[in-house]
This record gives sequence, structure tokens and C-alpha cells, in this order.
Amino acid sequence: MSTPFFELKNISKYFAKVIANKDVSLSVDRGEVLALLGENGAGKSTCMKILYGLYQADEGEIFKEGERISIRTPRDAMRYKISMIQQHFSLVSAHTVTENIILGNVKGKINWKEAENTIQQLAHRYGFNVDVRKKIQDLSVGEQQKVEILKSLYLDANLLIMDEPTAVLTPQEIDNLMEFVENYSRKGNAVIFITHKLKEVMHVANRIIVMRSGRIHGNVLKEATNEMELSRMMIEHSIEELDKGEDKREAGEVCLSVQGLTVVPRNEVPLLHDVDFDIHKGEIFGIAGVSGNGQQELCMTLCGAMKPTSGSILLNNEDITHLSIRKRITLGIGYVPSDRHRYGMVMDMNLSENMFLKASYSKEWNKNGIINRKKLAETTSRMLHKYDVKAPGPYALARELSGGNQQKAIVGREMALEPDLIIAVQPTRGLDVGAIEY
Ligand SMILES: Nc1ncnc2c1ncn2[C@@H]1O[C@H](COP(=O)(O)OP(=O)(O)OP(=O)(O)O)[C@@H](O)[C@H]1O
Ligand SMILES: [Mg+2]
Repeated sequence: MSTPFFELKNISKYFAKVIANKDVSLSVDRGEVLALLGENGAGKSTCMKILYGLYQADEGEIFKEGERISIRTPRDAMRYKISMIQQHFSLVSAHTVTENIILGNVKGKINWKEAENTIQQLAHRYGFNVDVRKKIQDLSVGEQQKVEILKSLYLDANLLIMDEPTAVLTPQEIDNLMEFVENYSRKGNAVIFITHKLKEVMHVANRIIVMRSGRIHGNVLKEATNEMELSRMMIEHSIEELDKGEDKREAGEVCLSVQGLTVVPRNEVPLLHDVDFDIHKGEIFGIAGVSGNGQQELCMTLCGAMKPTSGSILLNNEDITHLSIRKRITLGIGYVPSDRHRYGMVMDMNLSENMFLKASYSKEWNKNGIINRKKLAETTSRMLHKYDVKAPGPYALARELSGGNQQKAIVGREMALEPDLIIAVQPTRGLDVGAIEY
């Protein structure tokens, strides 16, 4: 047997009492696309963060082409030509594409023209249509991801680790990414790909590794398996067909009425132009479209984070067009943002504090300015249980949860406020097959 390109041997990683990885051994060859599957909290991200030097393994070894290597930081990983695109991007939003890509990789005086040209050419070569002079904050999530990939290509990586790269992409963007992955691996590079989407796995992977509770639970070639078998391998209890029954929901009165909603930043093209719609009670209203066409702005205007230039928004017949965000929350608008790290939670606060974020002014939790922490923790525990959030308890920090479990906690918090209307932007981002069914 030939020596693997990269190999992990008997890796274990503990966070206090939590066993994130136990005795994990896996390898990837040149030219191979390896998919890493598993439920929320199974240990996928942790294992790859060890390979990328973000975490140190407590036990185990890493090899490149048969030789033992030590990876203590991402800089070490980059020296071995390993690059990782995180589940949550790590770009500086006020900087341009070029600045982000060369950040940390330049010394002395920078020739911006030359840097921009090199990166623009790189983008063209891989069919990525991004303007390298734009600021990250002006790019859609799909474009930001291209920047992340470009950054890896710029560093000439041979092993690309992608943590849920398709979670927020449109079908077209996903096709492009899959094409890129195939091309890139065909050139003798390797890709490790974490995902919850079995269709993509069956499309692009050569081999699939399934993790369960921190351990390797299966290692199969694509030809030898199918979606059904993979989901059985992933999930400890099989997914019961949800008995949805007959859909008896009937559209009731109008809950939200939007008329002529327009947002035009000064001297710029409209972000929203004369948008009209009604949503009735009992309805699920879907908004689709290629990212960057105003969906994000529409949701932000509805929840109060962006001011409309003209038009009106009525919630239960009350005009909320000019009300503050907080007022809208009390009137019954819940919000699940697409970027959970930036807008969903404060990562350095614990879960019960995060629960409290939106309800802090409610009499229920604070009496004379003093927070009833005990009650808050109890309610948080109940929410964690109800939404099947895998966490040590209400005092665990938000950042200690796996990505999917953070998402479940946000959804739980929003539901706990019993809103009349929930605006959910990419709500199933990073949820495993079991959780999406909810
Ligand atoms: N920094 C940390 N501190 C404490 N516990 C952590 C930390 N990072 C991860 N964990 C725990 O390790 C376990 C594995 O988490 P990991 O993020 O690897 O899961 P995952 O398979 O990537 O899940 P998801 O599909 O939800 O992203 C979880 O129980 C998580 O709570
Ligand atoms: Mg993860």
C-alpha cells in the first residue's frame, strides 16, 4: 500500500469532561476528496482544527507522506501546505479582498497593483468571479467563501480542509464549488470536506468517513455505499419519518404587511425597490434568490436593523416602520440570522446569558435591576433539552458548542420568546439531518 499524503493516528482531544475526539485515525491520499460526516457535536471540526494547528491533540500523531510532523499553529500547517476554511469565516470585514488574502503573508512595502493583479488572475484561473478591490463587508456570504478559498490557493495549499463549505451557498454556487473541488483534487491535491448534505457527498467524495461521539464509526468508498446507509451510520437512533399528518394549517388574518418598501443608500442603487407582500397567520413564507439580491436587506429592514427610505411595515395591523429593534421584539418579531457568530450570539458569554440577551428588559428576569440567574439557568436548561442542544449546561460558553448546536440554541432562544413572526435567514445552516427534521 502506498504511503498516505496525510495521516492522523490515534488522535484524542478532551475539553474538560467532554471527549471531543477519541482514538481517531484517518488518512487522505493525493487526488482524493474525503468527506467527513457526523451528527452535530460528533467531533468533525475539532479533528480538523487539530490538523490545522488551531487545537493541540492530547494524544496521537500526525504524518505527512510517512514522516511524523508537529503542527502547533496554523502557520505550521501552512508550512506543510495545509489550509482550512472554517465553518465560520475569519475575514476582516473592513478590509478589501486583496488585503485579506495577503494579510500575514507580506513583509515590507507592498506593491498593491501587483498584489491585486496576481490575485485577480488567480481568481480568473479558478473561475471565481470576485472583485479583489471590494471590501469583505460588501460581499455576499458566497463571495466571501470564494475569498477564503482564494486565500488558500494563494498560499499554494495541497490539502484543503473545508468545514461545511456549502451550508449557505445557492445551488448554482454549490455546483461551482463542486467543480472547483474536482478540478483541484485532480491536480494531485487533496480535499477533506465536512458536510451534512449527503447528496454532495455522493457527488463529489471518493471516500467517506463517519464520526459518532468523537470516534470514527465508518470508512467507506463512495461506490460501496448510498445515502440511506450513510444516514444510518451517522445517527444513533434512526430518523423516524416525521408524521406530519395532513397539513391542516389555514391561512388566517394578515400578520405582516409590507407595502412599497424601498431602501436606497445615499447616492447608490436601491437595495430594495418597492417590495409588497402580505404574510398571513399560519403561513410559512419563503424568500428565494441568488445571494446579494436584497434578501438580507429585506430581513434586516423587517427586524429594524436597517431603515427604509420609503414604504411601510405593519405587524398585526400596527405600523412598525419606524420602531426600534427592541420595540419590534416586544411586539413579537423573532430573528434567526445567517451569521450566527456576528449577529446571533456573543461567543464569550455563556448560554444562559445569551438567552437573556433579548429578554433582559423583561420583568420576568430582572427585579430592580438584579438578574434572577437561577431562574434564567433553569429556563435555559429546559430550552437546551427541548431543542436537543448538546452542551454541558447553561453555564457553558457559546464558543464551546459545536456549530450546529449553537444554531439550535439560537432557534431555541427565539422560540422561547413566543414570537408571532420569525424571520429566519438560512435557519438550517449546519444542522444535521436529524435536527433539520424538527
Ligand atoms: N473550545 C471548546 N471548548 C469546549 N468544548 C468544545 C470546544 N470545541 C468543541 N467542543 C466540544 O467538542 C464536541 C465536538 O465538537 P465539534 O465542534 O468538533 O463538533 P462537530 O462535529 O463539528 O459538530 P457540528 O456539525 O455541529 O459543527 C462538542 O461536544 C463540543 O461541545
Ligand atoms: Mg463543526
